[in-house]
Amino acid sequence: MKPIRKAVFPVAGLGTRFLPATKAIPKEMLPIVDRPLIQYAVDEAREAGIEQMIFVTGRGKSAIEDHFDIAFELEKTMAERGKSLEVLEPTRLGPGNCAYVRQQEPLGLGHAIWCARAIVGDEPFAIFLPDEFMVGSPGCMKQMVEAYNRLGGNLISVLEVPRETVSSYGVIAPGARDGDITEVTGLVEKPKVEDAPSNLIISGRYILQPEVMRTLENQEKGAGEEIQLTDAMARMIGTQPFHAVTFAGKRYDCGSKVGYVQANLAIALARDDMGEEIRAFALDLLAN
Ligand code: UTP
Repeated sequence: MKPIRKAVFPVAGLGTRFLPATKAIPKEMLPIVDRPLIQYAVDEAREAGIEQMIFVTGRGKSAIEDHFDIAFELEKTMAERGKSLEVLEPTRLGPGNCAYVRQQEPLGLGHAIWCARAIVGDEPFAIFLPDEFMVGSPGCMKQMVEAYNRLGGNLISVLEVPRETVSSYGVIAPGARDGDITEVTGLVEKPKVEDAPSNLIISGRYILQPEVMRTLENQEKGAGEEIQLTDAMARMIGTQPFHAVTFAGKRYDCGSKVGYVQANLAIALARDDMGEEIRAFALDLLAN
């Protein structure tokens, strides 16, 4: 079984739900306290043993490339002033560890992944949607890689949501369940509540076999007139093993404003350097 060495980060979406904040700044650069969302996703990939990060970017996303580059003037000035550069350590992705490819038109998540086909090549790979913020130890992808080492094939992370909310997500049809692993017998993107096969939604992390690129090649447009990754994965069920992993941690949908504020609050409360102050402030705010 080939190991998971590469991760694709589709970051070419328009981020319309966060306008005007995302007019000139990529959604993935919005911070949770003091770290951009994309940094958390890259850290999660590294924790899972992934070496090469492939970003599918678009116009207006150059801040992401700058973030993972060396900031020469900044670092030189900080060093001269005797300031520690440790805080910048996780932002360094050397040339051998990252690649950028452009999605010229935002035709959908499936199309964004397909844009990375030449760099992914003929090996299984991970996908991270950075606006799905996963918090846990071990991280979501590490948990998935461990499952992959036992099961092989394709894996997606899932979580249970209230049934009335499923229409915003990709939903699985579940088969046999064994602990945190559920067999996937079907997949549907943004179903009507009454048609949804379950309340288990796909939550932004995938491990897929390279054959998905050939499936995406001739994938028709689906929900929202976009080329959907879920539809391409659905066509692979039956030809390859397909399992869902229920993540043993917390997930915040930072593509939505409510989820983003919740994530900031949760992380701030959990931090040693500010948790107490934020807790006192929040209690005071709620009491008045
Ligand atoms: P979203 O559905 O969250 O879309 O995409 P979006 O454009 O980022 O945000 P809104 O809905 O307009 O506010 C899910 C993921 O797929 C990527 C996005 O960058 C995000 O990580 N994506 C989506 C692409 O890379 N290209 C696309 O054409 C569409």
